[in-house]
Amino acid sequence: MTVQTYTFRIQRNMPGQVGAVQSHWQDYQVEAEPNTTILTLLETIKGGQDGSLTFRQSCRSAICGSCAITISGRTRLACKTHVGAVAKDGLVEIAPQKNQPILKDLAIDIRPFFAKVHAIKPYLQDGPESAGKVTSTAYDQVNHVTQCIMCACCYSECTMTEVNPRYTGPAALAKAFRFVSDPREGRKTERLQELSKQDGMWSCARCTLCVDVCPKEVAPMEAIIKLRTRGMGKGFTDAAGPRHALAFHEDINQTGQLNEFTLMMRTLGIFGALKETGMALHLAKKGKIPSPFPHYVDGVEELRRIYQSLERTPVDVETKAKEAVPE
Ligand code: SF4
Ligand code: FES
Repeated sequence: MTVQTYTFRIQRNMPGQVGAVQSHWQDYQVEAEPNTTILTLLETIKGGQDGSLTFRQSCRSAICGSCAITISGRTRLACKTHVGAVAKDGLVEIAPQKNQPILKDLAIDIRPFFAKVHAIKPYLQDGPESAGKVTSTAYDQVNHVTQCIMCACCYSECTMTEVNPRYTGPAALAKAFRFVSDPREGRKTERLQELSKQDGMWSCARCTLCVDVCPKEVAPMEAIIKLRTRGMGKGFTDAAGPRHALAFHEDINQTGQLNEFTLMMRTLGIFGALKETGMALHLAKKGKIPSPFPHYVDGVEELRRIYQSLERTPVDVETKAKEAVPE
């Protein structure tokens, strides 16, 4: 392979006054083959050009998760990313992970991330729901979730964490799914009740970025959707998220189209909807208030038949298998 020159534009971050961080960009030139990893080149820079550059690394094998940083706009593992795959016209921009406090240069404070993981109780609990027998297929659903290396790439890209730092976040929720799905776990319902609360599983906006960036194909958003299904199955429906989902279900079943006029009230309740009066008036001024009257789409009878068929022969949304019901 041909050796070429790459410019590494690295965000340098220094602790400033009273917790503030002062940032600037600094360029470094490195010679490398395109299949050299970003981590190797960061070490080259640190060893040969600037010993003050700070970043984390340990295993160099995409196992420990410590080298996750923002590379060319996306959070990735530096030890798994080849420079040729991310350079644009020879330029690679490097910054710390997003959504987390910066300590120095590319090193972030990982404590808020792990505090959320600890908050979901990442361990098996004794309790009345613990299965006496574990089948050989019991872990098929959770195998991919157990691949998580806690690198926080998903957390860094999470758009909901960006606007709501209290949100539990994709990695902790995927971890929660791992325990809700474990036949040995004794407090599954208690966990689902807890996760149904504010800033829990219903806060996910389903942007899918966590699925895109996860280096271990954990697909946290899919785990979150499965948690929601299980939570609703246990009757935890008294919150905006499940009410919203039920309103969709009701409208599509009845008319084939959402009644957006009543959707907000059914989701947020009367008092919650009243708080949105300003937005409603704004929409009205722009002529964007939807009709309050239901509109029946052509072929709605066919939709109803599909619903009836699904009620007679339920499909497990988790496994897509007919009549297979999750624990
Ligand atoms: Fe990293 Fe994926 Fe685990 Fe998120 S779910 S912490 S991206 S391994
Ligand atoms: Fe361990 Fe990259 S150094 S995952």
